[in-house]
Amino acid sequence: MPLPPVENQAAGPCIGVFDSGLGGLSVLRAIRQALPQARLHYVADSGHAPYGERGDRFVQERSRHIARFLRAQGAQMLVVACNTATAAAVQLLRSEHPDCPIVGVEPGIKPAAALTGNGCIGVLATEGTLRSERFRLLAQAHAAHVELHLQPCPGLAGAIEGGALDAPALRAIVQRCCAPLRAAGVDTVVLGCTHYPFVSRLIQAELGPEVRLVDTADAVARRTAELARFVSHRPCGQAGDPPVVAGIAPTAGVQLWTTGDPALLQEVALRWLGWSCPVRPMSDPD
Ligand code: DGL
Repeated sequence: MPLPPVENQAAGPCIGVFDSGLGGLSVLRAIRQALPQARLHYVADSGHAPYGERGDRFVQERSRHIARFLRAQGAQMLVVACNTATAAAVQLLRSEHPDCPIVGVEPGIKPAAALTGNGCIGVLATEGTLRSERFRLLAQAHAAHVELHLQPCPGLAGAIEGGALDAPALRAIVQRCCAPLRAAGVDTVVLGCTHYPFVSRLIQAELGPEVRLVDTADAVARRTAELARFVSHRPCGQAGDPPVVAGIAPTAGVQLWTTGDPALLQEVALRWLGWSCPVRPMSDPD
């Protein structure tokens, strides 16, 4: 049932957030905490996930299509809640939407390098992220003085997309990806894909309790909140905006979209975030 529009409500910014699928929900949750008044449109491109095992051109075309869609919904700023899409497409999006602040997500190499005690860091990420020039520059800038162990996780984001976080096949992938990092003696591991926080307990169990996991969702949310101060907030109730009912429902003002199965996104949002919010299908260009 649609939430009723609210009059005279201090309007927050309208922010568009997207990921290849369900992973960006980990970022959306942090943005919601940082900006409770914001109206949020989230696109899960689950019909085309995973991005990490595709080429850059494919990820760029998907990102461009979704950015245009989110702006048509009224988004005044965008958050690319996907490391893989940030690596492949954030520059392109910024050049195509120069009037729109765009926040990207990058593996937390910098905080990990500051946190490590033994100078040995692991990075779990998609193949797309790890092979990107953007990642190479990030590592060069912040991890030149540490031992960096890069671990691609083929199949992991795809398995998380299935929604069953305790599936034996998913556990087997986590084991396979964590084993080399454990053997290398890392004391800090970067979760370099927004899907992975949803299996952080499995990852932690494989690596051992003494290994510190680094997730950048809160830092991304803080950056989003900083930039949101500079966008002029339109009055509430414009066409396409989900209404905000502050203090009533934690998910008021949130609209989820998917190119995959709306029922799965609805169920996962409830199970993983405790959010009950409307989900609509998003279609692809003809
Ligand atoms: N969640 C995405 C990331 O942060 C991508 C996962 C995928 O689609 O491969 O990289």
